[in-house]
Amino acid sequence: MSINRRMALRVAMASAVAAVFGSNTAAQASGKRIVRLSKVKVGGSHKFQLANGAPALLFRTKAGVFAYQTICTHQGGEVSYLAAGKLMVCGVHNASFDPFASGKVVKGPTGSAASTISPLPSVKVKIAGAWIVTG
Ligand code: FES
Repeated sequence: MSINRRMALRVAMASAVAAVFGSNTAAQASGKRIVRLSKVKVGGSHKFQLANGAPALLFRTKAGVFAYQTICTHQGGEVSYLAAGKLMVCGVHNASFDPFASGKVVKGPTGSAASTISPLPSVKVKIAGAWIVTG
């Protein structure tokens, strides 16, 4: 398979994933409870699921909370947080994303530049009393 054909296939697959799960900022109903604030310590994270079924991960820092959809923007692999490197990494082709820099691509899929894929889509979350909720 030629490189151009392979790239076209990747773009088509990423588009299909985006069509199923949404792209950019994942749309969520505002105010839906995700987890009690007391269950996520400062410096911790929590996996949850979006209303459309997509997996997501939220982080709590001293500054507040933020979250990302954890479907890789390359070909839809699931992205996991590796605390040791403070990066979100896809196990399929090893792309990595920085959750503390707006989900930006740190490393592209194996053999590809970081610019070939998009950052992880963010998910709006906020603290509301004793809960972390969709924002
Ligand atoms: S599907 Fe994630 S790097 Fe390829």
